Amino acid sequence: MSENKTLIAYATKGGATEEVALKIAEVLRQKHGFEVDLVNLRKNQHPDIFPYKNVVVGSGVRVQRVYKEAVRFLEKNDFEGKNVAFFILSLEAGNPKSYDGAVAKYIERLLEKYPHVKPVATEAFGGRMKILGFTVADARDFGKVETWADNLGEKLRSKA
Ligand SMILES: Cc1cc2nc3c(=O)[nH]c(=O)nc-3n(C[C@H](O)[C@H](O)[C@H](O)COP(=O)(O)O)c2cc1C
Repeated sequence: MSENKTLIAYATKGGATEEVALKIAEVLRQKHGFEVDLVNLRKNQHPDIFPYKNVVVGSGVRVQRVYKEAVRFLEKNDFEGKNVAFFILSLEAGNPKSYDGAVAKYIERLLEKYPHVKPVATEAFGGRMKILGFTVADARDFGKVETWADNLGEKLRSKA
């Protein structure tokens, strides 16, 4: 396992979470010098996390649920000795009035079920809604993503 190696494992249905995962990867690589790999959990549900010191897990939300591939990934892996971070994208998280509820539902209550997962950082970002290929709402804030990724990079470096 290399201290420098970081895996970003994400579950996406509409592509929005993938774009956010790519932004996080860019910040961790360019500002913090991490070696980052990405994996789409809907294409590969069982990536080997052994080589990675840091694992960032991301998912979209539909019908009040974090995607099952991300939930299973959290459930099935033993992250002992690794640093884990977790983020979700949802339209509720992009609205200041429903942000706290989104954090409670999609992060806090979910992670309560998996006490072996002790993330060093979590965040709920606004999502993007596409219907029949057309964007009908985009609540993503890439500035917020960049700041979160930068702070995460600092934290991970201080733990290396
Ligand atoms: C069918 C559908 C259901 C959704 N349900 C919710 C929901 O219950 N709560 C929410 O906050 N956002 C909801 N969203 C918004 C998604 O969370 C948002 O589009 C997110 O960016 C999806 O990520 P993805 O593009 O990576 O799949 C829904 C979107 C779709 C298309």
